[in-house]
Amino acid sequence: MNLDFTAILPSLPYILKGIGVTLKIVIVAGLLGFAFGIVLAIFKISKSKALNWFADAYTSIFRGTPLILQLMIIYYGLPQLIGFEIASYTAAVASFSLNSAAYISEIIRAGILAVDKGQKEAAMALGVPGERMMRDIILPQAMKNILPALMNEFITLTKESAIVTVIAVDDIMRRSYIVGGDQYRFFEPLIFAGLIYYLLVISLTMIGKVVERRLRQSD
Ligand code: ARG
Repeated sequence: MNLDFTAILPSLPYILKGIGVTLKIVIVAGLLGFAFGIVLAIFKISKSKALNWFADAYTSIFRGTPLILQLMIIYYGLPQLIGFEIASYTAAVASFSLNSAAYISEIIRAGILAVDKGQKEAAMALGVPGERMMRDIILPQAMKNILPALMNEFITLTKESAIVTVIAVDDIMRRSYIVGGDQYRFFEPLIFAGLIYYLLVISLTMIGKVVERRLRQSD
């Protein structure tokens, strides 16, 4: 057996710097995906057949093809159409938010439909206009119910973000792989990367639990 964790000690700061890169992609893509997901969810429950069709087709395509393919199409393929290169970080954020929006829209749609219909009837009886009813009454209640599913989506994003390695974004994954190549020992840096991802996911899980508890207390 040839294992020596001390050999990679000098490279640890280099790998740790990848946390910021990974988090920046996950947070920005998560927020954009969430915003776009709300829009798609509203399209899905709207009365307009065209909007229903658009949102359903969108979800079907982005859920029906691999995320790594979407990432590569945006990074390698799209420049052919638009005539200029896209920075790898931008391509990563774009593909992750577009992909996540498809999943988040389904989570939000289900959450909105699960809000008791008495809430809508009461709002209508009080004469609350449709848009305000959605924003101030239905959506806040839906959010509370879907929090666990949303947290799950952010955990998925965090782990899936490792594929940005293929377009040379220097995230946690790529950095540990580079250290492995430099030192001809992959096991140690990859295990270290695994530990970092695991800690990130555990932290997200804990944040989710705290927020959930807070929301439940405010009932
Ligand atoms: N590996 C899966 C795929 O390529 C991940 C999809 C991303 N999932 C998500 N919930 N955003 O399709």
